[in-house]
Amino acid sequence: MKGEFYIIGNSGEKTLSGKVVISGAKNDMVNAFAASLLMKGDLFVRNVPDVSDTEAMAALLSSLGGSVKRTATHEYKLNTGACAGSNLRGDIAKSIRASILYAGPLLARFGLVSFPFPGGCVIGKRPIDLFISGFMKMGARVSEKDGIFSIRAPRGGNIRGASIFFKRQSVTATETFMLAAVCADGTTVIKNAACEPEIAHLAEFLNSCGARIKGAGTSMIEIAGTGLLSAGKKIYDILPDRVEAGSFAILGALAARSLTIERCIPAHFEALIEALIEAGVDIKAGENTLVVRNSKRGRPFRAVDVKTHEYPGFATDLQAPMAVFLTQAEGEAIVFETIFEGRLGYVGELIRMGADILPLDQHRIQIKGGTELKGREVESPDLRAGLAYIIAAIVAKGDSVVHNAHYIDRGYERIEERLRAIGVKIERKP
Ligand code: EPZ
Repeated sequence: MKGEFYIIGNSGEKTLSGKVVISGAKNDMVNAFAASLLMKGDLFVRNVPDVSDTEAMAALLSSLGGSVKRTATHEYKLNTGACAGSNLRGDIAKSIRASILYAGPLLARFGLVSFPFPGGCVIGKRPIDLFISGFMKMGARVSEKDGIFSIRAPRGGNIRGASIFFKRQSVTATETFMLAAVCADGTTVIKNAACEPEIAHLAEFLNSCGARIKGAGTSMIEIAGTGLLSAGKKIYDILPDRVEAGSFAILGALAARSLTIERCIPAHFEALIEALIEAGVDIKAGENTLVVRNSKRGRPFRAVDVKTHEYPGFATDLQAPMAVFLTQAEGEAIVFETIFEGRLGYVGELIRMGADILPLDQHRIQIKGGTELKGREVESPDLRAGLAYIIAAIVAKGDSVVHNAHYIDRGYERIEERLRAIGVKIERKP
């Protein structure tokens, strides 16, 4: 599924309508795959998104000796009973940052893990210092040679529970140490933990399998080491993708007469919903649906300032689509990206499309809204910005080509089919 997308813009007309069903979240899928390393028997996973990051996590687990069976569309049976190795294969681990999630349970189970500096979308430096210092706090020895990190449990023993303070909240580090701590000796406390819904969901599932985790979803998590768990017939049901749902809400506001977003959890992207309501978008949120309507009859939306923040704040993953929204709102807005220092790299192409955006510094841009976007040929710099370009291209006047479809395929399943179903004129070219 490489290639590019051809999109015929609708010149800002609100022509789309219908419903879209939200896929399972890539960022919860990665947790389910990593959790399989803590299970004595099979782990059944449901609502798995059919995206290339799922293929990468599956390939990595298979290369460790795990059994990965796709039992039906969006369903997998994972079994790690035969896993022997704990070297993460470099070519795959370098392509996906979440591969580091495997490191925690592998270290706890085999006393050893090695991996290259993990890759993923280029949205900033994305260091791994929190992982290294956390492993050391658990008694592990860390070495690095030719770009490969080797982490070893203390001689003749297991990693041990520790008090781990994160100098900044990190989603993947919180998940990694929660997973490692389940099989460590003693109790681990993670302080200044990230609070994203995927973390609480992972903990809830692990607890249902026998783990003893308290406080997940808050900034202080306590995990009593219990050893390997048993899922039995329990199913890890991947959460709906809150970023995908939020992006469709933005698309709906900009380009739909009426768009119903189904199988989502609006409570997981409340910061976006509040910002859109403040901007004047007509949104009705239920428990599992969201309806965006064009009730404005030609009246423009208002500009709102946006500052990204750890959950429950405004998600950095929704920052680029929101910037596209703001190009169409009346007035000036500041977008302040606080999480990653390289996540405004998409701005140049939006300016070429006609957006009036002034980069202020590495973290902030000023957007003057109410500009007409024009169709252009653009290159997605990463997954989330890629979808933002698609939204911009839909709103624009004229045709666009969005290159690097493979970034978009990392996290959005069959995006062109689902967009076509609500009226978008989009084709994929190989
Ligand atoms: C997760 O990335 C998500 N990925 C990202 O989604 C998301 O953008 C990000 O969290 C923030 O919400 C997954 O869940 C798989 P972090 P993660 O560690 O865990 C710094 C997407 O498009 N940091 O929470 O890698 C880091 O540089 C992706 O789906 C350190 O300084 O992000 C950043 O500034 C992109 N040292 C901040 O913490 C470390 O050791 C938060 O990053 C680790 C992180």
